[in-house]
Amino acid sequence: MYQDDVASVLVTEQQISDKIAELAKQIAADHPSDGTKADLVLVGVLKGAVMFMTDLARALPVPVQLEFMAVTSYGSATSSSGVVRILKDLDRDIAGRDVLIVEDIIDSGLTLSWLLKNLASRQPASLEVCTLLRKPDAVKVDVPVRYVGFDIPNEFVVGYGLDYAERYRDLPYIGTLDPRVYSS
Ligand code: XMP
Ligand code: MG
Repeated sequence: MYQDDVASVLVTEQQISDKIAELAKQIAADHPSDGTKADLVLVGVLKGAVMFMTDLARALPVPVQLEFMAVTSYGSATSSSGVVRILKDLDRDIAGRDVLIVEDIIDSGLTLSWLLKNLASRQPASLEVCTLLRKPDAVKVDVPVRYVGFDIPNEFVVGYGLDYAERYRDLPYIGTLDPRVYSS
């Protein structure tokens, strides 16, 4: 359906699922569930992280609690300013809990850095980040990201949760768009 709009496939469906299996193994090894600790809390950032979050949660061999946040960052459609507003907050308190933020993509890192500060102020026992994709600029800012799926070039990507004007989130892979799409 979207074939004509996609210029290139950056990460295939198979590569995504292999990577999720790998990340899940690492995360589970780092967060063993011993029956006494409360479950790990995954905090997914809507809407982009939805596909990644649900696939990751099902790949994890440890029980997790699913929470979602929706934030908006003031800026253009394709870049963020770091000024963030919460559209939907967590449903539950995370004080004393082990929390893993699940992100679709880190670009400038501004959104994530704001989110880390905000969630840290709620006194979780631990706070870490897992992102499916990371762009080169993200390396310049000092945000600690424990789990990274793929480092990708500095191009605008869509698919697997990521959108352009709310489209293409349902593509099963990560790709770039034909420039024609942006000009129409
Ligand atoms: P920052 O710059 O704050 O940006 O790290 C993170 C947010 O910006 C959006 N973003 C993208 N969305 N394709 C997208 O669909 C991209 O290539 C892209 N780069 C950044 C996204 O909302 C992300 O959470
Ligand atoms: Mg978007």
